[in-house]
Amino acid sequence: MEILLCPDAQIAARSAADLMTEALLGATAPCLGLATGGTMLPVYADLVARGDDWSAALTFNLDEYVGLSSDHPASYHTYMDKLLFRQLARRPRASYLPRGDSPDPGQEADTYEALIARSGGIDLQLLGIGRNGHIGFNEPGSPLSSRTRVVTLTDSTKEANARFFGPGENQPSEAISMGIATILEARACVLLATGMAKAQAIARLVNGPAGLDCPATALRDHGAVTVILDAEAAALL
Ligand code: PGA
Repeated sequence: MEILLCPDAQIAARSAADLMTEALLGATAPCLGLATGGTMLPVYADLVARGDDWSAALTFNLDEYVGLSSDHPASYHTYMDKLLFRQLARRPRASYLPRGDSPDPGQEADTYEALIARSGGIDLQLLGIGRNGHIGFNEPGSPLSSRTRVVTLTDSTKEANARFFGPGENQPSEAISMGIATILEARACVLLATGMAKAQAIARLVNGPAGLDCPATALRDHGAVTVILDAEAAALL
């Protein structure tokens, strides 16, 4: 893993956007893996401001909540549409996220996995990290062999994401997420972590033992991973 230490979150986001842009413009038919969450907000703002043409690209997002329709305000479909796709002058040729409101989420997960494979695989996968070390919604204990599937969210993940839901609104407890094996098949990955809340997970990723209890440590066996950190996320290194 290559570790890139940045003085602040803005510069860290710009460095992640630089790698995405390189992948976007460096291939005739780029396939980009996208992520959601608070960490990615400045990355997408930065990418939009660059004004690049995304029309040759395919994109696949890591995950979506089970039970949310694509137009639900807290769905990842809505997040991506609002913060990236609708802002681009020339949007991607196709953008895929798992359908959260599919009548058969298990089947939807299988179809999504097959679609990634049929598209030739992901060139660069953007990743955040959970406080508990999750990548995508692969919570602690997720098998290294896992593929896109329905997963149950831990209480700590639900708590961390509660801010995206209205007061009293029912927060989903399941998601469809790419698996660890799916993510590791990306030709390259960039993991971005900013803020003190991620310092412990990052210390474990970089220096601690690899293990299923910290899913991000699976990335250590991948030959092309860049971990981009601001000073706070790197504080315990
Ligand atoms: P966050 O989520 O960017 O909102 O912290 C990251 C993640 O859970 O992977």
